Amino acid sequence: MKLLAHILCLCLALALAQSQEAHASAVLDRCEGLEMDAVAVNEEGIPYFFKGDHLFKGFHGKAELSNESFAELDDHHHLGHVDAAFRMHYEDSPSDHDHMFFFLDNKVFSYYQHKLEDGYPKDISEVFPGIPDHLDAAVECPKSECDEDSVIFFKGNDIYHYNVKTKTVDDKKFKSMPNCTSAFRFMEHYYCFHGHMFSKFDPKTGEVHGKYPKEARDYFMRCSKFSEESDHVERERCSRVHLDAITSDNAGNMYAFRGHHFLRKDEGNDTLKADTIENAFKELHSEVDAVFSYEDHLYMIKDEHLFVYKVGEPHTHLDGYPKSVKEELGIEGPIDAAFVCEDHHIAHIIKGQDIYDVELKASPRVAGNKRPFSLFKKVDAAMCGPGGVTVIVGNHFYRFESLMVFIVGRALPEQHKVSLELFGCDH
Ligand SMILES: *[C@@H]1O[C@H](CO)[C@@H](O)[C@H](O)[C@H]1NC(C)=O
Ligand SMILES: *[C@@H]1O[C@H](CO)[C@@H](O)[C@H](O)[C@H]1NC(C)=O
Ligand SMILES: *[C@@H]1O[C@H](CO)[C@@H](O)[C@H](O)[C@H]1NC(C)=O
Repeated sequence: MKLLAHILCLCLALALAQSQEAHASAVLDRCEGLEMDAVAVNEEGIPYFFKGDHLFKGFHGKAELSNESFAELDDHHHLGHVDAAFRMHYEDSPSDHDHMFFFLDNKVFSYYQHKLEDGYPKDISEVFPGIPDHLDAAVECPKSECDEDSVIFFKGNDIYHYNVKTKTVDDKKFKSMPNCTSAFRFMEHYYCFHGHMFSKFDPKTGEVHGKYPKEARDYFMRCSKFSEESDHVERERCSRVHLDAITSDNAGNMYAFRGHHFLRKDEGNDTLKADTIENAFKELHSEVDAVFSYEDHLYMIKDEHLFVYKVGEPHTHLDGYPKSVKEELGIEGPIDAAFVCEDHHIAHIIKGQDIYDVELKASPRVAGNKRPFSLFKKVDAAMCGPGGVTVIVGNHFYRFESLMVFIVGRALPEQHKVSLELFGCDH
């Protein structure tokens, strides 16, 4: 009897340990619809999503332990999670400009370039007098958007506008907004996350305009699968995740690729359509690096491989492909972007900070005329059309009159928003 009880006990303990393990690994998949504890952008504008003792950097990739980037967060005894975080981004406060602040229980940590500032952690009441402990969320709000350089703190349904210069606090209630579990400012917009949903709000009044809440992962995560309810067209138009590739063919049809999906816009029709890459380009499956259009074919590059599709309904994959990029274009894959300008037979290939030309009529083809460019460290996607060259980096795109202007350029031209100005998503 005693032995039986012992075995039973052991089994229970094992089952418990296993379920906890399963739970812990399930928590690490950002595509499962997670509720984040805190969100803030780093000095380079890359969002950091905190969950438990883990951190997701940017819009894709696996979770890391937060203490690998911010070791001292661990020294605090109760670190289970970060309550709130924001990046101070006020040039008028040079001592704190671009510092990241983290809130844990009653403590605040200030980091600059991933190094903890001297004297931190400090009590929240000392650094931000009038702001309570155990916060839910925090977000910076510069004077262009909040009248004064401010930080907005959230706890339950209480909202505190903290004036950075005068250190005064203005209590407000944001009536129409749910309690935020985390909040951040991205591309001049303010987002309150609640559970795995989010709402965009006016930082001064807390008003939410438009159709919210929406699914956080649809906008801020790169996933192979989304929820059943996800609207593919709306999600792909509005996603803040970088594009992998873009091209427009001679007829003026545009294709934009991201992860497992792509958007298509036909010449003379403003209606965007979305589909999976698997469905339209089965052999390629997903996640293309670069695509260019040439003589009614789509040349699609993924890692070391070149796939060629004849444009049509449906697109047909040419026999004998995929072939190696090296063999077909005379350059080692992977590459970052590629495009052909109208009426030319030259594919321009961007790899790192160099651009190469490949004469497509030549045999064998070679990548020559290597030229460095300096405007961007990394290009996500590019295309060429009657208006010149469009270069996409993250959430923005830039137009250059010609390839030469792009290569020799020393100053960035006007910045345009991908979701708004390419795909007409205004939220
Ligand atoms: C980070 O935390 C993990 C798990 O709590 C621990 O095993 C590891 O030693 C910590 N690493 C550092 C650099 O503190
Ligand atoms: C929001 O927070 C308040 C506490 O400040 C709480 O009473 C209320 O139930 C919360 N609302 C929701 C929807 O969780
Ligand atoms: C544009 O495309 C949509 C969706 O395929 C279609 O329903 C519509 O008729 C097209 N409009 C024009 C003007 O071709």
